[in-house]
Amino acid sequence: MEVRVENGGSYEVGKSGWGKSLPVPSIQEIVRSDSQSEGPIISEYVADSLEIPVIDFSFLANGDEDEVQKLHLACKDWGFFHVINHGVKEQILEKIKAAVAAFFELPFQEKKKYAKAENETEGYGQNFVVSEHQKLDWSDMIYLLTLPSQNRNFKFWPLSFPGFKEASEEYSREMQKIAEELQANFSVLMGLKRDGLKRLQGGELKQGIRKNYYPICSRPDLVLGCSPHSDGTSFTLLLQDDDVPGLQIKHNEAWVPVKPIPNSLVVNIGDATEIQSNGMYKSIEQRAIINEKKPRISIATFMFPDDEQEIGPVETMIDDQNHPKLYRNIKYVDYVREMFSRKMEGKAHSTQFTKLHDK
Ligand code: OGA
Repeated sequence: MEVRVENGGSYEVGKSGWGKSLPVPSIQEIVRSDSQSEGPIISEYVADSLEIPVIDFSFLANGDEDEVQKLHLACKDWGFFHVINHGVKEQILEKIKAAVAAFFELPFQEKKKYAKAENETEGYGQNFVVSEHQKLDWSDMIYLLTLPSQNRNFKFWPLSFPGFKEASEEYSREMQKIAEELQANFSVLMGLKRDGLKRLQGGELKQGIRKNYYPICSRPDLVLGCSPHSDGTSFTLLLQDDDVPGLQIKHNEAWVPVKPIPNSLVVNIGDATEIQSNGMYKSIEQRAIINEKKPRISIATFMFPDDEQEIGPVETMIDDQNHPKLYRNIKYVDYVREMFSRKMEGKAHSTQFTKLHDK
């Protein structure tokens, strides 16, 4: 599969300021023309019987101490958990899923109007493509900055498409409410006041939503929908397809499939929280596999600090005797730029470059 690269030039970073990714063909179009590429054989051990923890959001929001402890263990031992009873109306979830499905069904020429530029991370296409020799993930995506609302870059939004904007805005508001409650709990668990992390991250969490479309593949063992990576976020809220599983996470050297619980969200700790917690909470490797018979849609809501904020282990998590500082401080935008300059390749593409010692 040939990916065109403008020869080694230096690129202007676009409006989002986060980095670039080379233009690539639409995977949906490749499937349509039936020319499939070689890919990795998925052969590693998959621990099918394990399940990630389940957190009841309604208990958490009511300050239930047992649930807060469950959250602590989920973040420490797994870095991933389901969130049930989050209070978002089913109708809102259905609306966003339908809007995303309909967007990806548009003709390619139509979707191309929202294509990401090479020096942007927003828009329709793929990110983390840094070399013409890189094997592509078996997926297409549209990534949009959603909050604060002045960060919206409407040239990438399919505004003429009925319902997309309204469904995205409604969904974005609901995710923000859940994220604020989770962030307040993480603060308390790190020995801070409820608004501690909010202050350290430069105010309200920022938000971007990435809608993924994973086409079918007749040889799902030869491709990956999403290469192994950890998220460079504070944390991420993922709405999975209820019927088509695909997400797998690394746990004790095995890949654990995250079986969808209808209408729930999957939350994972991102690199910024791993760093701020001085390694108590883990930003875990994840990947998405492909289905032979059914396409899959997922919607990832990324929550992250302000670009200008310096991220480092919080004072309450450092103890020179027992828990020395494990990561160096770094301005968040520098962290993200470093991340976008690499392809997605496990943990190495993120927290490794701020690590001070091996734990
Ligand atoms: C992502 C991601 C997993 C999935 O969008 O960054 O990891 O299951 N998605 O789609």
